[in-house]
Amino acid sequence: MTQDTLLLGQTLHYHGSPFDIAPQDAARHDTNGAVLIRAGRIAATGSGEGLRAAHPRARIVDYGDRLIMAGFVDAHVHYPQTGIIASWGKRLIDWLNTYTFPEEMRFDDPGHAADTARTYLDLTARHGVTTMASYCTIHPASVDAFFAQAQARGQRVIAGKTCMDRNAPEGLRDTAQTAYDDSKALIARWHGVDRLSYAITPRFSPTSTPQQLDALGQLWTEHPDCLMQTHLSEQTDEIAWVQGLFPEARDYLDTYEQFGLLGEKGLYGHAIHLEPRERARLRDVGAGLIHCPTSNMFIGSGLFDMAGLTGEGQRIGLASDTGGGSSFSMLRTMAAAYEIAQLRHTPLHAAQLLWLATAGSARALHLEDRIGNLAPGMEADIVVLDLASTPDIAQRTTRAETFWEAIFPTIMMGDDRAIAATWINGRQV
Ligand code: GUN
Ligand code: ZN
Repeated sequence: MTQDTLLLGQTLHYHGSPFDIAPQDAARHDTNGAVLIRAGRIAATGSGEGLRAAHPRARIVDYGDRLIMAGFVDAHVHYPQTGIIASWGKRLIDWLNTYTFPEEMRFDDPGHAADTARTYLDLTARHGVTTMASYCTIHPASVDAFFAQAQARGQRVIAGKTCMDRNAPEGLRDTAQTAYDDSKALIARWHGVDRLSYAITPRFSPTSTPQQLDALGQLWTEHPDCLMQTHLSEQTDEIAWVQGLFPEARDYLDTYEQFGLLGEKGLYGHAIHLEPRERARLRDVGAGLIHCPTSNMFIGSGLFDMAGLTGEGQRIGLASDTGGGSSFSMLRTMAAAYEIAQLRHTPLHAAQLLWLATAGSARALHLEDRIGNLAPGMEADIVVLDLASTPDIAQRTTRAETFWEAIFPTIMMGDDRAIAATWINGRQV
């Protein structure tokens, strides 16, 4: 039997959604808290004194006044775009054609896929990201590379082969049949193995024929426990393009809905420029809307309606959208979400931002019973934050009178220097 580990420090956990009740009331902060880890899981949380007395044999890791909380969950990334993050561009379609597609073509080389997966998972661990839902490329080997790397690290990840059979360059197109066959084979190989799960992944309706969307809708019917991830209403010119390609469709969402690609386990990235019918349907089915704020500003996409969408009870996750997003950091991502909400005159509380980056994203990924919170029985994916990681932040934190005031400068100004430790599956990485 492995030895128990007891982490001591400030702790933060949630017992409700800070969008349903007053933000501070949804969270519990303990100045002298503790988390007991046993065999990759959180066995107990409580006071430092109490857990120390109850578990005298546990190995102690004392983080002092640092903050122990659930690891960050990034609900929408493209790991293959690691190498082209922060590439100057104009609009989405231009950016895809100029940088993304040429880079994704390189993933026909499994060595390049393995190198990028390793680099991406190393970088994100330094940012305290413990789970992500990633697009891969059209090459099945790009999925194998990502899952194999995550598996070796004991990491919980979601990923899928990106499917595209039109409006993409030669060498980056599959077909309706191969998309179905390859995705099905990957589900058989990886879905439910260790901490890995598969997401059926049509990139977005402009790059799939109706035949391909139909085949993937069929595949989802056969594997309803898989997530399905795609993009929705990110830019206005993209929406106009979709209208031209699908003249019969009622709206963008309908290009998925009519092929069986709308469901509770569907994840719709961006979801900025939504029609009332789309909002109503997304809400009715309980689909996941994934907010990608640094990407939306970087590519100039628009301002996500966080207040309106949470107010109507939508299921929302937060994401970096590497590499359309301009940072791997979920701190930077929360800061961008705050700024976008400010531009809509609907400020977000620190408790809401932290919840979105952990429990909220976990809920969007249907993993809220396993990750995204510090609670007994949850998997031990943990980040430890230094709330005074730079002189800039430290001089502000010393004046803070409440915990929420103390953490907000780290959300707004923090980076990888604020990440004191990352624990994945009960092991520090
Ligand atoms: N829409 C379709 N593909 C992509 C992508 O790779 N990044 C972003 N931001 N939007 C997309
Ligand atoms: Zn994306």
